Amino acid sequence: MARLIGLTIVSLFLSPVFSSPVDTSIYDPTLIRRDSVPEGYESPPYYPAPPGGWLSDWAPAYAKAYEVVSNMTLAEKVNLTTGTGIFMGPCVGQTGSALRFGIPSICLMDAPLGIRNTDHNTAFPAGITVGATFDKDLMYARGVALGEEARGKGVNVLMGPVVGPIGRKPRGGRNWEGFGADPSLQAIGAAQTVKGMQSTGVIATLKHFIGNEQEMYRMSSVIQRGYSSNIDDRTLHELYLWPFAEGVRAGVGSVMTAYNDVNGSACSQNSKLLNGVLKDELGFQGFVMTDWLAQIGGVSSALAGLDMAMPGDGAVPLFGDAYWGSELSKSVLNGTVPVDRLNDMVTRIVATWYKFGQDKDFPSPNFSSNTDTSKGLLYPGAVFSPIGVVNQFVDVQDDHKTVARAVARDAITLLKNENNTLPLKRNDSLKIFGTDAGTNPDGINSCADRGCNKGVLTMGWGSGTSKLPYLNTPQDAIANASSNAEFFITDNFPSDVTAKPADVAIVFINADSGENYITVEGNPGDRTVAGLHAWHNGDDLVKAAASKFSKVVVVVHTVGPIILEDWIDLPSVKSVVFAHLPGQEAGGSLVDVLFGDYSPSGHLPYTIPRSESQYPSSVNLINQPFGQIQDTFTEGLYIDYRHFQNANITPRYPFGHGLSYTTFNITEPTISVITPLQSQYPPTRPAKGPTPTYDNSTPAASEVAWPKDFNRVWRYLYPYLDDPAAATSTGSYPYPAGYTTVPQPAPRAGGAEGGNPALWDVAFSVRIKVSNTGARPGRAVAQLYVELPSSLGVDTPRLQLRQFEKTKTLAPGESAVLTMELTRKDLSVWDVEVQDWKAPVNGQGVKIWVGESVADLRVMCEVGGECTDI
Ligand code: NOJ
Repeated sequence: MARLIGLTIVSLFLSPVFSSPVDTSIYDPTLIRRDSVPEGYESPPYYPAPPGGWLSDWAPAYAKAYEVVSNMTLAEKVNLTTGTGIFMGPCVGQTGSALRFGIPSICLMDAPLGIRNTDHNTAFPAGITVGATFDKDLMYARGVALGEEARGKGVNVLMGPVVGPIGRKPRGGRNWEGFGADPSLQAIGAAQTVKGMQSTGVIATLKHFIGNEQEMYRMSSVIQRGYSSNIDDRTLHELYLWPFAEGVRAGVGSVMTAYNDVNGSACSQNSKLLNGVLKDELGFQGFVMTDWLAQIGGVSSALAGLDMAMPGDGAVPLFGDAYWGSELSKSVLNGTVPVDRLNDMVTRIVATWYKFGQDKDFPSPNFSSNTDTSKGLLYPGAVFSPIGVVNQFVDVQDDHKTVARAVARDAITLLKNENNTLPLKRNDSLKIFGTDAGTNPDGINSCADRGCNKGVLTMGWGSGTSKLPYLNTPQDAIANASSNAEFFITDNFPSDVTAKPADVAIVFINADSGENYITVEGNPGDRTVAGLHAWHNGDDLVKAAASKFSKVVVVVHTVGPIILEDWIDLPSVKSVVFAHLPGQEAGGSLVDVLFGDYSPSGHLPYTIPRSESQYPSSVNLINQPFGQIQDTFTEGLYIDYRHFQNANITPRYPFGHGLSYTTFNITEPTISVITPLQSQYPPTRPAKGPTPTYDNSTPAASEVAWPKDFNRVWRYLYPYLDDPAAATSTGSYPYPAGYTTVPQPAPRAGGAEGGNPALWDVAFSVRIKVSNTGARPGRAVAQLYVELPSSLGVDTPRLQLRQFEKTKTLAPGESAVLTMELTRKDLSVWDVEVQDWKAPVNGQGVKIWVGESVADLRVMCEVGGECTDI
């Protein structure tokens, strides 16, 4: 009962921050039971965890790790696997340390678009904005800048990029953190971001692994298990795993598990996903961490392949209890968790630390994400904590605002532009409407984790945010650029406004979403109440302006698709601009495009439908307060444009759509064979290299005795035991069904980071000529879609984006030749029987299309045949 009261208090205390996970020992298990999944979706066991270190790229780092791990005590090893507890240090999470070897507490921080809850950092555009640029160089540059800022603050692990959710559910709360509703766009965005971040020595994190497609009911509560995303094997491989595979191939150092179950097994201890898919098939060599408080079992998660528990707390946070920490010490001493599993966990963490050179001159955290004052509690979760200097206010912004502005600008997506209404002239008479043009009157960072929608929408809400160091609003920037602008920063159309024939009305509207621990205007992360509509009666504002003015430009800041049907065809709505989520440079980036200094060059990273009913019903949010939600991905591969094409539905704007102030031709396609696809399946994978071999005998119990005169911090999570000797007694443990210590045969689809390296053999190279045929300079995006032949024997979406390239700015009349490479994997389907990727021999029957959107294809090449202009 005391614990129940404790839990209630903690839940209240944490409610704005975390939903409380469940302590199964104190509730009626029938209330929180895991329901059975539909037939065919069960997650099979996969044991034991494959040890890391077998790839030559990682061998030097593993060799260094071996030197130290083989000399560590049990306490030091456990320390590195377990967070110190929630609010027990400066970062959103940190491990214990192994200072004898120079390994500090490892600091883990959000967010994917800037360092969360600190100061003097850049608030970059969000992932969805990055996706809309279709610009690989900008994706990389933003990654580098994020890494530099993290390093400057002393952050070892920056928890991004996000590739799950992929955007299956258009109302899903966190789609904006990732790059768009397509696996290749997500994959390329993630790989470029990971490479950029890690070039600075910071460890990137791919999250959330996997199937976290809605926010509501993602975590277990006292009455309900988090939902189960039920995903068939082919859909998993071809859609949801695809960006993770490319991120692993890019060398990502860590992966975060999702809160939800997949196929009836919690992601934090799903042995099939962690041991089997991630570590064996994808050859992931880094470490796997939980999402915050997502761990639900100690031994079970260790055996299933988890390497780091974050933030370390057990079922009830802030009580000094952990599933690991001293409990892991116990489980190793009594033989339940094999010593080699612990050694592998620690080796993976330490090897990753070495791989990115963090043993050399890596700064310690110089900030606290808990407070913005200079001095504060060192361990706020301890209540009685020592006080010290916690914030040194180190300015890490450098000139990153230039990257932020370039990304925000080159993402701006022009959906409609009649009579060349845009670009505007500096002396055009402008009337600007909507609070989304202005600032948050309460202060730009007044809502914790941006948990309100006031003023211009620069990002969604939740852990994926950072504070704005400043905000350049559209209002400021337009006032600066225009000699003739009048502002009405209101969402109610003013009754007294007069319209002159030459006036241009610019109407700002937005749509927000975020993470589930904050509810904004009735939306608990997902867009439950708002639906796919503009917030704050935005449709009415547009309609009111359109009834009075003959030239209306609509600017939309949005987390994802919204329905435009109420006004898109009104004769006075001339132009529509999606500016996505631009971060701190909202104003300048928009003005760059509105006034024609740059042509818009962004493209939609998702489809905009005519009505929500155009989506398959299986991608609706599931709102079911009792019993475990079974969210079965029955639409399979048919999400977003794959669905619209399959169902023959013409959306309002197709995936990839985006106009410019100029026009482009795509001509002269050619295709060359680079590596002939001589067989359906890739050549045999390389064998695994050696992994570290430790003395795996049970350590001495004394290694986890409390050190003499140790000054304990209350509630801090330690590896030590009061009576270590008592922990050595062995009992019987109910190992999961299928548990074994006999290694599995190496999966045939594996062999290197990401999978069998032959999957990345470049099969074909496609060249096209892009010419600026209009009167203004601009950048074009060439999108390459593959059409796979029916000879593969499986039903496959008609067109799938696999590559894209963006030109530099082309002057009128100027041309550029773009080359895009297609790998074996790009032309393959996942064969669920053979458990391997299967491509048509020599690409026979494959058609390759290139265009400016999925519905605007300009050239086509038949593999082994002709290339034609369309
Ligand atoms: C929960 C979020 O899902 C995750 O993305 C984030 O990194 C952690 N909280 C830590 O804030």
